[in-house]
Amino acid sequence: MKGGGLVYAVGVGSVLALLTCALALHESPQDDVKILQVTENYHANHHLLGTAAELRFKKEYPTRAEYLHRLGIFAKNLIRAAEHQAIDPTAVHGVTQFSDLSEEEFEGMYMGVKGGGGAAPWENGVAAAEELDVGSLPESFDWREEGAVTDVKMQGTCGSCWAFSTTGAIEGANFIATGKLLNLSEQQLVDCDHACDAKERRACDDGCMGGLMTNAYKYLIEAGGIEEEESYPYTGKRGECKFRPEKVAVRVANFTTIPINENQIAAHLVRHGPLAVGLNAVFMQTYIGGVSCPLICGKRWVNHGVLLVGYGSRGYSILRLGYKPYWIIKNSWGKRWGEHGYYRLCRGHGMCGMNTMVSAVMTQTS
Ligand SMILES: *[C@@H]1O[C@H](CO)[C@@H](O)[C@H](O)[C@H]1NC(C)=O
Ligand SMILES: *[C@@H]1O[C@H](CO)[C@@H](O)[C@H](O)[C@H]1NC(C)=O
Repeated sequence: MKGGGLVYAVGVGSVLALLTCALALHESPQDDVKILQVTENYHANHHLLGTAAELRFKKEYPTRAEYLHRLGIFAKNLIRAAEHQAIDPTAVHGVTQFSDLSEEEFEGMYMGVKGGGGAAPWENGVAAAEELDVGSLPESFDWREEGAVTDVKMQGTCGSCWAFSTTGAIEGANFIATGKLLNLSEQQLVDCDHACDAKERRACDDGCMGGLMTNAYKYLIEAGGIEEEESYPYTGKRGECKFRPEKVAVRVANFTTIPINENQIAAHLVRHGPLAVGLNAVFMQTYIGGVSCPLICGKRWVNHGVLLVGYGSRGYSILRLGYKPYWIIKNSWGKRWGEHGYYRLCRGHGMCGMNTMVSAVMTQTS
């Protein structure tokens, strides 16, 4: 085993959490939170949060009590955004469309957390990636420019980030293998994939309640492949499995986990295409733009699955703290979030645990 792999096991081995995506609303019949986007046709008699001038994301609530509840949370989130701004001065934090969700709601209450004893369990039974030469890496790289990345998608109030991270990696691998960019079906994973980690048997993919990308690859290898978005569209709710093997668009051949070394991650990104990544999303709720480089960001609370699509070497810092190398990360919270749906996170510090759960996937050609 390589040194990097060992550090990896020691560093993050004690926690295996399903990625609950940091966006799942805690829903129960008594607590039926209906958040509707206000449209041009907005009518009176609705309780609105904020004024047009101060809020980019107007929300509408069914009752006045709910409105007041959300207003309180909104006020707390303004304070949180200010705190995040202080801890993460090179990014811009502020009001996002999630500013009326409590931290607990936003983090999905870690519903999928399964305390694990094993070392880096998502690595079990999977050969770790070979070490690549990092000497000739380009200074910056962006798979979007190569046409390997589909449009930013929106998971909605469903903890299905892991499915979007998985499809993103397969979409990229398929593009590199065939030259064709396809939107692939997250819903197939949400509905049909119940695969569990080889060692941590309780860590099973669970629709809107979280999952792991490595489990999803295993499911897809067994199921025979993944359908296109068009043939199995996203609903944002767990439903019965409607997978039709004859509709398979891409077959998954294999996958591999990448060591924590960020130069290796960059080399594998360039070689394999966009990589599926897990990270701690705590700073993402208030993120508006810039290079996020928080002074503290727990590496153990990896709770969100995203897609690493590139990197750059000189991210401009608004507070003139210098230029920082950064990763370019595709999120699944729609294009209105962050930098047109993307997050830039500083590179080289294992920031927010982004280097601890990285995987590449290989598609089957022929
Ligand atoms: C999958 O990849 C690993 C190396 O990462 C390799 O050892 C194994 O043979 C591959 N399996 C298949 C079916 O290609
Ligand atoms: C993927 O789906 C989106 C939304 O439906 C669409 O705008 C985009 O063109 C599709 N991309 C590809 C490569 O089919």
